[in-house]
Amino acid sequence: MTPTGLVAGTVPAAAVPHRVSTHPRTYLMCSPEYFTVEYAINPWMNPEDPVDVDLARRQWESLRAAYTALGHTVHTIDPEPGLPDMVFAANGATVISGKVLAARFKYQERHAEGEAYAAWFRRQGYAVADPVTVNEGEGDIVFAGRAIIAGHGFRTEAETRHEVEELFRLPVISVRLVDPRFYHLDTALIVLDEHTAAYYPAAFDEAGQAALAAHFPELIEAKDEDAEALGLNGLSDGRNVVLPVQATQLAERIRAAGFDVVPVDLSEFRKAGGGPKCCTLELR
Ligand code: ARG
Repeated sequence: MTPTGLVAGTVPAAAVPHRVSTHPRTYLMCSPEYFTVEYAINPWMNPEDPVDVDLARRQWESLRAAYTALGHTVHTIDPEPGLPDMVFAANGATVISGKVLAARFKYQERHAEGEAYAAWFRRQGYAVADPVTVNEGEGDIVFAGRAIIAGHGFRTEAETRHEVEELFRLPVISVRLVDPRFYHLDTALIVLDEHTAAYYPAAFDEAGQAALAAHFPELIEAKDEDAEALGLNGLSDGRNVVLPVQATQLAERIRAAGFDVVPVDLSEFRKAGGGPKCCTLELR
């Protein structure tokens, strides 16, 4: 099924909407000083496949530079030794309208990150809500303007939706993830703007696919090759879409829909099952 399938080449040039960057964004990132793959909690991770630490550092710096070149502000949180996945800031919390829902990680290996991120937010003066159920931050809780899409199935619990609804006072669309390679929602869905998203249908059950199709008037489908390169792990400011360079077909489709694509290469982070979006937490 192709819900309002928007496919490169099928949209006449005159119909391509003019996309606007709604406002400069503020992001939180964590430097990859201690990044390695030393345990495996998703199918991408293999502790025997070493990370090139220097390359990872350069790739992370190039992501940060891409954001500042787009006019966005990047804050950083100090990495902590012994927390190799702390570089994936998206999992550290969910921040909407200045309200923070702290993360509570599923796996023991990442537990301490929840408190490390919550402490950063408290030091900055944010009110931080303590999580009751397991939630891995913006990895699974994706802000879509008029609503929040909440993924569950591998990490974040389905029940988290109630905490999210109550704290942020926005409708929550709950979707189930069904393919272990796409264990966080942000590996299978990019919200491009309030009305537009790109997704990998096979990562969702039928009800989830239908819910996304009902919510987004424009929904771009990613092909297997792009999804399998973790190509959906990008982020949009409403006009510019920072996207893994490997997602070549998806980039074309996103461009055909009127967005600008900013390709970045975070190949070393894919060894941990991450990409540009995972390395970034938006402070709204
Ligand atoms: N190795 C990390 C994990 O499995 C990767 C997290 C990626 N983050 C994300 N937002 N998808 O938890």
